[in-house]
Amino acid sequence: MTSPTPPIRAVVFDAYGTLFDVYSIGALAETLYPGQGAALSVLWRDKQIEYTRLISLSDPSPQGSRHYQSFWDITRASLRYALARLGLVHSVANEDALMAQYAELTAFPENLGVLQALRQRGVATAILSNGSPEMLQSAVHSAGMSDLLDAVLSVDSVRQFKTTPTSYQLVQDHLGLAPADVLFVSSNAWDALGATWFGFTTLWINRQGQPPEAMGPAPHHTGRDLSEVLKVLGLH
Ligand code: LAC
Repeated sequence: MTSPTPPIRAVVFDAYGTLFDVYSIGALAETLYPGQGAALSVLWRDKQIEYTRLISLSDPSPQGSRHYQSFWDITRASLRYALARLGLVHSVANEDALMAQYAELTAFPENLGVLQALRQRGVATAILSNGSPEMLQSAVHSAGMSDLLDAVLSVDSVRQFKTTPTSYQLVQDHLGLAPADVLFVSSNAWDALGATWFGFTTLWINRQGQPPEAMGPAPHHTGRDLSEVLKVLGLH
C-alpha cells in the first residue's frame, strides 16, 4: 500500500540484513556444519529475536528491563541453543568463529551508493539497531560506512529491544523529528510493522521475496533492495 509521502527529513536503517549482509554468517555455518548451515542460521536468528522479545516483554519498564542482556550476549546464547536443538557439536572454536562474523560483515552491493546519495542531498541518516554499540561500530567500520552515517543508535542505551515504543522513541529523541518525517527502513517485516505502528513512514526491503506479515498495517513502501530508498524520496 502506498500512501502520500510526508516530507522525509531523515532515513533510519535497521542494521543486520538491511545495511549489513549477513550472508557470510550462513556460509561459514555451512562450512562448519555441512548440510546444516541454512537450518542453523535460520534457527539462530529466530532464537536471537525471540530472546530480545522475551526480555523486553517480561519487564517493559521505561527505565529498561531488569532482564536485559546485550545483543552480543543474546546472539551467543541463541547460537548455543540452536546448536543444541539441531544436535550439532558445540566447540568454543566454532562458536568464536561464527560470532566473529558479526564483526566482519560487508554492505550489500548497492548500499554505499545509496548512503552517499543521501549524504549528497543533505538527508540525515542513522542506524537504529538491537545490536550493542561495539558490534555496530565494528560492522559499520567493516562495511565502509563510517563516514556515511550521522548517528548509530543502539537500543542498549534504553535496555529495551525493538519493537517497544521506547526503542523507536530513541530516533525521535536523537533527531528531534516527528516520526512521520522519518523513513524507517528494514528488511525485517516485523520491524517494519512495529515501526509503522510507532508512526514512522516505513519501507520494507524484501530481498528474499518473503510474504508480508499477515496482520497489521502494510508498510508504506516495499522494495527489493536499498535503492528503493532513493525512489521513495524522489532522488533517483
Ligand atoms: C537489528 C536487527 C533486528 O539490527 O536486525 O536491530
